[in-house]
Amino acid sequence: MLHKIEIEKANEFIEQKAKDVNKRYRNKYHLMAPIGWMNDPNGFVYFQGEYHLFYQYYPYDSIWGPMHWGHAKSKDLVNWEHLPVALAPSEEYDKDGCFSGSAIVKDDQLYLIYTGHVEEGDYRREVQCLAMSEDGIHFEKYHQNPVIAEAHIHNIADIAEFRDPKVFQRGETYYTIVAAQTADQRGQMLLFESANLVDWKFKSVVAEGEKHQGIMWECPDLFHLDGKDVLIFSPIQMAKQDNSYWNTSSTVAFIGEMDWETGKLAIENYHEIDYGLDFYAPQTCEGPNGERMMVAWMQMWNRNMPTNDLGHLWAGSMTLPRELHVEDNRLIQTPVKGIYRQFNEQPQDSSKNYFANVVKEQQYVHAVVEINEEQEFTFAYAKNGDEALKISYQAATEMLTVSRETIGYPIKGIEETHLVERKMRVSPVDGQLDLELFRDTSSLEVFANGQTMSFTFFEKVKGTDIAVESTTPLTIKLLTFSQ
Ligand code: FRU
Repeated sequence: MLHKIEIEKANEFIEQKAKDVNKRYRNKYHLMAPIGWMNDPNGFVYFQGEYHLFYQYYPYDSIWGPMHWGHAKSKDLVNWEHLPVALAPSEEYDKDGCFSGSAIVKDDQLYLIYTGHVEEGDYRREVQCLAMSEDGIHFEKYHQNPVIAEAHIHNIADIAEFRDPKVFQRGETYYTIVAAQTADQRGQMLLFESANLVDWKFKSVVAEGEKHQGIMWECPDLFHLDGKDVLIFSPIQMAKQDNSYWNTSSTVAFIGEMDWETGKLAIENYHEIDYGLDFYAPQTCEGPNGERMMVAWMQMWNRNMPTNDLGHLWAGSMTLPRELHVEDNRLIQTPVKGIYRQFNEQPQDSSKNYFANVVKEQQYVHAVVEINEEQEFTFAYAKNGDEALKISYQAATEMLTVSRETIGYPIKGIEETHLVERKMRVSPVDGQLDLELFRDTSSLEVFANGQTMSFTFFEKVKGTDIAVESTTPLTIKLLTFSQ
């Protein structure tokens, strides 16, 4: 009963207040909450012919607060329809938040499994709970929640750090992988099994981190793809290593083979999933043709958010959905196919180095650059005077750098040094660098050879131009597309 009241209260607030949101920096082809704060994608699932995506949501302010689940659906993962709030804190076991979780379809009903979070002073309790729906819109919490709690992890893990269940099915058995923490503060992933989604038993520790791999792992997801088993997760404070793991919270893919007898993952390789400043808590879902799609929160913990600072009444966006593959024990990402249909080519002379008045707030830029050995080039995007987003490449080190140092409102975090850029190694293919840039009002996602970098930026003035600078003459094919 209280759940219904809390949901109605949230929905009424959204209906009345969403019109007051300042639209200046709102993205158009990425999923965002109508008003308020959003973080992790949750419950990403294909149900009755449509994708459903839920998210961590606090409608009442543009900062994190007691977590609800926002909800939207889409046929093509590009155009989204907002649906009513799906979950709100209302019970003793989830009174301080319905934390992250996932969804599964069983007997044509939609089931959500999420973390009930309770926090009072030093006391913290995180338990796994179920909610179900016949229409995919209205959810009822299971009357005997929680379904995974203290008794299931007795002598195994601490109930204070135990969250983000990802549910999946193998044969007749349901599994849920949940993030936990060892007593000496390392990340740990626990696997539970069930025949009916209600009665769960502990199966195994799927993987356990080393000290340098973070103090806690969040938001696990485990799936089979291209002959490999992939565990993705989001470690807090993973130690910086070369050009990887620079943010306070990172994302990692462990790639290897699952032994389903022992429930352990033998790891053959691992790497950061996205080399940008704004990418966290990715979750995947299997589409109708077996495709593995991934979406992440395009923001980072512990940094100021300009739209909150400016009183715009919202904060947070999802990334573009990406299709995943595994090649040579690495995760390969390509943009959701339907996105290309959103853009029309802008005719222009692509033989020059300065493109005036070509930048649009919704834009796709495809640059194919002929690379020679000594080359260094910079591509100043959304340039207006000294302001620009800088995408540069150094052939000698094969390093692609994206910098927001010279654009927009400063975004500062708790990292040791103030981060304004990230780097990613990309080797040219057949002497060419193929760069795809997706710009929505306040975000830029770079795809290069299946690797990605995701950023937010909040321009003070609208940038209009693209300028290319290079140490040696550059052959570039630049195509711009806008909506
Ligand atoms: C990850 C996370 C999750 C948690 C949620 C709370 O970003 O910290 O571990 O469930 O956010 O909003």
